[in-house]
Amino acid sequence: MFSPSSDIQTLRCRYLVIGSGVAGLHTAWRASQSGDVVLLTKRSLFDSATAYAQGGIAAAIGAGDSPELHRRDTLAAGAAMCDRAAVDVLVTEGPSRVRDLRAAGVDFDLELGGAFALGREAAHSERRIVHAHGDQTGAEIVRALVERVRASGRVRVLELTRALELITDTDACCGARASCAGAALEIHADATVLATGGCGQVYRYTTNPAVATGDGIALAYRAGAELEDMEFVQFHPTALDTPETPLALISEAVRGEGAILINAAGERFMAGRHPEAELAPRDVVAREVFREQQRGAVYLDATGLGDAFAQRFPGIFALCTARGIDPRSQPIPVTPAAHYAMGGIVTDLAGRSTVERLYACGEVARTGVHGANRLASNSLLEGLVFAERVARDLEGVAPLARLPAQRAWTVPVLGDRGAAQVAANLVRDTMWRHAGIVRSADGLLTCLTDLDDIAGRLPEGATEEANLIDTARLIARGALLREESRGGHYRTDFPQALSSWEHRHVRWRGAGAPVTS
Ligand code: FAD
Ligand code: SIN
Repeated sequence: MFSPSSDIQTLRCRYLVIGSGVAGLHTAWRASQSGDVVLLTKRSLFDSATAYAQGGIAAAIGAGDSPELHRRDTLAAGAAMCDRAAVDVLVTEGPSRVRDLRAAGVDFDLELGGAFALGREAAHSERRIVHAHGDQTGAEIVRALVERVRASGRVRVLELTRALELITDTDACCGARASCAGAALEIHADATVLATGGCGQVYRYTTNPAVATGDGIALAYRAGAELEDMEFVQFHPTALDTPETPLALISEAVRGEGAILINAAGERFMAGRHPEAELAPRDVVAREVFREQQRGAVYLDATGLGDAFAQRFPGIFALCTARGIDPRSQPIPVTPAAHYAMGGIVTDLAGRSTVERLYACGEVARTGVHGANRLASNSLLEGLVFAERVARDLEGVAPLARLPAQRAWTVPVLGDRGAAQVAANLVRDTMWRHAGIVRSADGLLTCLTDLDDIAGRLPEGATEEANLIDTARLIARGALLREESRGGHYRTDFPQALSSWEHRHVRWRGAGAPVTS
């Protein structure tokens, strides 16, 4: 195929999928039923937030549960910011997607009679969390989906391949430019699907893997796609408090089985602060843990579970014991950590972004199901439900009338790895201090000045760090504009939720000023 430089390899396919978490893997497999697919992933197929998911997938599947109850809980957690139509899709199509996974060989934990074993997590009125191998749900789903993708024969998988830029031609997306283990690769596609996951790496403390640098957000933003709700970041209350990065997670399901939060004096502090105590909405618990941390260390006491801990949570048990903590007899030190981005690329119910031929699904998308605060275990579900919808819509995409004009380009080479690392750490520090669990106008302005300063000193070729900074800016600017507190966004200078901000979103498009609608 023609290429302006013999150093650029060019591929042509019907569908390009970027990212190999639950959303990308499901889209790639389902889309391969109607056309050939190229699937790019930054590191290995198994390197994603999905692979770390512990708690499970929420679905109204148990006796006594219903999509109506799941809808009610999701809307309540979302704090008057969810799109009802998207929530309806999530809760009504969710159970079928979970049953599909079971049919595809995901080894879910079952009761003796064969029904799904269901766990409980915060702000769910019912036990509705389907899980696998206790707390290995994500890894088991990835295993099954990767097997399916590989068996399809119509998905070309490119690992160690990082999308650098979307290719647009007369405002439609026609593929992407990527670095394939350092070599320049251009992929032309009739439709492109961003399934690049979240951006927890913009924060000093996060549960998100190293690949979660907000690439999809930055790429879509530069391509002119609309983004929304970027200020809504979810902080998980109970990451394992160690000096590592990312931090290991202690699933909410552990609290669902009765573990309690205690302070350095051994006092249970959530009981007096919310009627649901440890199972209050995640933003409430995260803020209370943060508040308590200003006085001393915080622990999750799961000793009441006794020997059952190791059986129900084998992965978390191993994580703790590897760090010298026996959760059967010792409280686990915990800290809040950035966990999930509620905002992202605006999509409709078919996963279409506002740029023609560009789709998004999974954590990078803003479908409207999570509002200001995601209900626990709704994200694997969202990934599956909307990936399926994307795949169905892709069937109707017309082939590109013409291939995009090509230009010479090269993969940017990182000049100074050490300086890039320092810059990334500075971003994480200022975001944690000023755009984290507790925010204020003064802090956010300091953060934005810091981000400008860091951006100005970024070394040549630091493309991933540039994405980190662009994403961080959107979060901080959105947080500055939203002069109220709601869900994952808390301002000390505007501590109340205001009715004037209900269902009002901060929307970004290209370099222009944001609008609220
Ligand atoms: P991911 O699974 O994050 O995958 C993104 C993919 O995109 C990765 O393969 C990455 O390498 C790739 N990528 C990124 N940028 C590029 C690029 N430029 N080029 C190429 N590839 C790229 N949710 C639940 O519902 N239940 C849970 O129990 C649960 N537990 C969690 C536990 C942890 C520790 C974490 C971090 C999250 C958890 N979540 C849970 C949230 C949930 O796992 C994620 O929201 C979800 O898995 C996101 O799926 P995804 O497919 O959108 O993205
Ligand atoms: C957890 O297991 O606590 C995480 C669940 C989620 O983030 O949905």
